Amino acid sequence: MFHVAVTDYLQPPATIEERELAGLARVECLLAHRAEDLLDKVEGADALIVFHEISLPRPVIARLRHCRIIVRGGVGYDNVDLAAARERGIPVCNVPDYGVDEVADHAVGLMLALNRGWVRVERSLRRSLTPWDKRAVEPVPRLAGQTLGIIGLGRIGAATARRAQAFRMKVLACDPYLRPGLEKVFDVPLVDLDTLLRESDVVSIHTPLTDETRGLVGAAALSRMKPSALLVNTARGAIVDTDALAAALQQGRIAGAGIDVLPTEPPDPSQALVQLWRAELNPPVNLIITPHTAFYSEAAVEEIRVKAAREVARVLRGEPPKNRVG
Ligand code: NAI
Repeated sequence: MFHVAVTDYLQPPATIEERELAGLARVECLLAHRAEDLLDKVEGADALIVFHEISLPRPVIARLRHCRIIVRGGVGYDNVDLAAARERGIPVCNVPDYGVDEVADHAVGLMLALNRGWVRVERSLRRSLTPWDKRAVEPVPRLAGQTLGIIGLGRIGAATARRAQAFRMKVLACDPYLRPGLEKVFDVPLVDLDTLLRESDVVSIHTPLTDETRGLVGAAALSRMKPSALLVNTARGAIVDTDALAAALQQGRIAGAGIDVLPTEPPDPSQALVQLWRAELNPPVNLIITPHTAFYSEAAVEEIRVKAAREVARVLRGEPPKNRVG
């Protein structure tokens, strides 16, 4: 019997994984919160399933004695040291397709909530009950006809574009790595980042976190956006410079932000953006933060677990993996 370790997030019993791996492997949930919690626990594992609550840095990967596969139970794999895994000859896979609809729904939901002023109005009316009319919410620009700029027209970016087109928005995208022609399939013209930032009324981020995208939306990018523009980030926190975003929101240099991901999670309470979000301001700042839940629905979690376990099973049986990323 092989030994599969689920490093974090999953509370035992791992019924789905045990069902998918029955007769092939025993499954152990390690419930680690820090990479150090894994030391002396993963050395003998034949496969690891890693969720999003910890990272797998080089010192942990160096201790794996006969691991045949690391599966990231999710899309983003920036928490796994791919170079270290490659040096040890361990393939890394992800589950790229489980939550496309959920994240696109979340991005569009944040955009609507920011545009319609739902959260800032609720916050202020709970305190005062007045004015109980449009004065509480103005200005509300009409969304139809506005431009949504998508940074990263991959699976989630394209699903977000389709939703926005149904709202009769114009959609643009910036994606230097898109397979040529897909912009025609999605009916979304490609532009460079500067044009996207200058022309968009809403900017939504859907790239992976890479050396190139870390800090991509910083002070310079924010200064190119319209003062009336909204920023939505459901991708990874470190793509946005959150200090620069807090300053831009405070100074009215952009009109709002919807953020599902932060550079440190759970958030560091001293972060300027978190402090701004928690401040009892009057009027409230148009800032919505959700706790990295864009991916979440019960069906999405079940799908990740089934697909991650099946990827492990394939490799343990000697078959090639489906979604190798490293
Ligand atoms: P995907 O791989 O299908 O699409 C990413 C797109 O970004 C690709 O088309 C790629 O060419 C593009 N890209 C890469 N570098 C770029 C750059 N420098 N500038 C512009 N575009 C660039 O990935 P998918 O499934 O759409 O997911 C996107 C990201 O969303 C993931 O990497 C993950 O970090 C994040 N995510 C967040 C979730 C949440 O719960 N908040 C859940 C799932 C994913």
